[in-house]
Amino acid sequence: MTRHLLDVDDLTPEEFQAVLELAGDEYPPRVLAGKGVALLFQKPSARTRNSSEMAVFQLGGHPVSIRDEEVGVDRRESAEDVARTLAQYHCAIGARVLDHGLLLRMAAVSGVPVINLLSDQAHPLQALADVLTLKAHWGGTLAGRRVAWVGDGNNVARSLALACALAGVEVAVASPEGYGLDEASIAAVARLGGKVSQTSSPAEAVKGAGAVFTDAWVSMGDEAEAAERARAFRPYQVGTELMALAAPGAVFLHCLPAHRGEEVTAEVIDGPSSLVWPEAANRLRAMRGLLLLLFGGV
Ligand code: CP
Ligand code: NVA
Repeated sequence: MTRHLLDVDDLTPEEFQAVLELAGDEYPPRVLAGKGVALLFQKPSARTRNSSEMAVFQLGGHPVSIRDEEVGVDRRESAEDVARTLAQYHCAIGARVLDHGLLLRMAAVSGVPVINLLSDQAHPLQALADVLTLKAHWGGTLAGRRVAWVGDGNNVARSLALACALAGVEVAVASPEGYGLDEASIAAVARLGGKVSQTSSPAEAVKGAGAVFTDAWVSMGDEAEAAERARAFRPYQVGTELMALAAPGAVFLHCLPAHRGEEVTAEVIDGPSSLVWPEAANRLRAMRGLLLLLFGGV
């Protein structure tokens, strides 16, 4: 059966650890020599496109980035036929989609792995990079650590909660009413043996947390709700006062793009506790690690 990575829990706990280890190989074998990887985007991207292209290149392969306008998914031809077509030329298909269901449809017919490059539900490569960043910062095992997510219980939050479950890290989520993690995500975390708690209080969530995460209040696709979201999330801004309530030496992470003055203050994201640039750098390692797992024969 073809392997796909639609969210972090498509990896077994052993594979998850293997990806983290393989990600650290700065001189990886050229396991993609002579092979192509298609990278399809229905939404904008800076980090995901560039880190994915460079990961494929560093493994000896050839990335082909495609904007949806070029192929017209479900307009020029069906998502299934796009996937079947790309699978004729490439050893994997990465896709950033508006609707997670599209990934499921592509994966159902693709003879090569489909990799989620962000959907409305999940962002697994970001979560892998986030765990890599925490590991590098804290060193050794992450088991028993605690992190806080302040803001929208969105795609990035869901994948992070799953990755933290696999890493043995407890997650405390603070969101306004109606914007928390959904029941299915909480159940998926529990299935992995993880611990996640939800509150509406940012102060409560960050208490004892060694890392504080946030993300945009308005994700790609949520633009019509911008005004309503700005009102709901205003008390959830991560500033120095909130960071001071976290564990001593707590670090700040954000998948980017960031909106200074909205979900985070400039003082925090550009300050000494911020790990956002190593976190962005780890996107490349995460993609390399995943491709090595899928194609390295380990
Ligand atoms: N963090 C992230 O996925 O960034 P891009 O949207 O720029 O790819
Ligand atoms: N939650 C954000 C993440 C961007 C990388 C979005 O989906 O737009």
